[in-house]
Amino acid sequence: MREELHNLRNEALALIQEAPNSQELESLRIAFLGRQGKINQFLKELKNLPQEEKKQVGQLINEIKTTLEKAINHKSFTPQPAVNQKLDFDPTLPGKKPPQGHLHLVTQAIEEIQRIFTDIGFIRVRYPEVEWDWYPFTSLNMPPGHPARDEWETFFVDAPQDSKYGKMVLTPHTSSGQVREMKRLGKPPIRMINIAKCYRRQQDMTHTVMFHQFEGLLIDKNVNIPQLKGVLDYFAQQFYGPKRITRLRPFHFQFTEPSFEVDINCPLCLGKGCKTCKSGWHELGGAGMVHPNVLKAGGLDPQKYTGFAFGWGVERTYMMRSDIKIDDLRLFYSNDIRFLEQF
Ligand code: PHE
Repeated sequence: MREELHNLRNEALALIQEAPNSQELESLRIAFLGRQGKINQFLKELKNLPQEEKKQVGQLINEIKTTLEKAINHKSFTPQPAVNQKLDFDPTLPGKKPPQGHLHLVTQAIEEIQRIFTDIGFIRVRYPEVEWDWYPFTSLNMPPGHPARDEWETFFVDAPQDSKYGKMVLTPHTSSGQVREMKRLGKPPIRMINIAKCYRRQQDMTHTVMFHQFEGLLIDKNVNIPQLKGVLDYFAQQFYGPKRITRLRPFHFQFTEPSFEVDINCPLCLGKGCKTCKSGWHELGGAGMVHPNVLKAGGLDPQKYTGFAFGWGVERTYMMRSDIKIDDLRLFYSNDIRFLEQF
């Protein structure tokens, strides 16, 4: 019987030691120490023993009982969250900041460009990315079959054609918003800044299939080229810094007359010419005075109104300012967090 009792004790202690939670522990307590428990079974058998043994075995049973009670009462489950955490928590320590993200650099650039132009009265709009051919081409003095259309390596959408507006395209430039804005407002003054996604069949170091442009359009009575130049210089100074100015270089677009390419002076030599820029100037984008045919397409009288327009790429505009050299435009859209984190 003694041996059985020793075995019982060892078994019980091992089970208590390993009990994973308080429910298990409670069922062990019932199994060993409860009224129908194993210890009580032994106590019942005690009366069959001779007087001498009865005393000793009785003592042993009582010892085992207290040992098991102690083991159960002192059993702790690790981890003991409530107690330990309370002791470890120091409310005076500064908090740990979770990592904080930021807007994509193109979104940052768009917001800044929008602010610069809305500060001087332009109104931010955006027009459809999937557009009728008429808006980016025909309404801009480029009828179907006109060779100038080739410049805008356009994606055509496989969709039914409209009798007036023609095929559907993914808009290849924000100039598609010019006539839309004239039609929306009906009459000048028009001061539009249209910033939107554009699509062209192109993909290399300096081009992506999808990119962004911003387009300014101002139409009113007596709008002239010096005003265009003033707005462009204002933008150059706001976006690139106080010493930057623009230069208009004669060019050709079907939808402006006269037309210009807009250059900005080099940040290093400010236009004098240096090793990095050679000519002193970097090309920014296109601009010009709105062609009379475009005003007519928008329902405006070219005898009464004149206007200017300008437009160019958001990504390129940003690249030309960035302190961190971005030599591949495709990085903007490769979703590499190591690249994006730098801005
Ligand atoms: N839409 C022209 C382009 O994508 C740029 C431009 C805009 C030129 C407005 C003149 C006036 O190249």
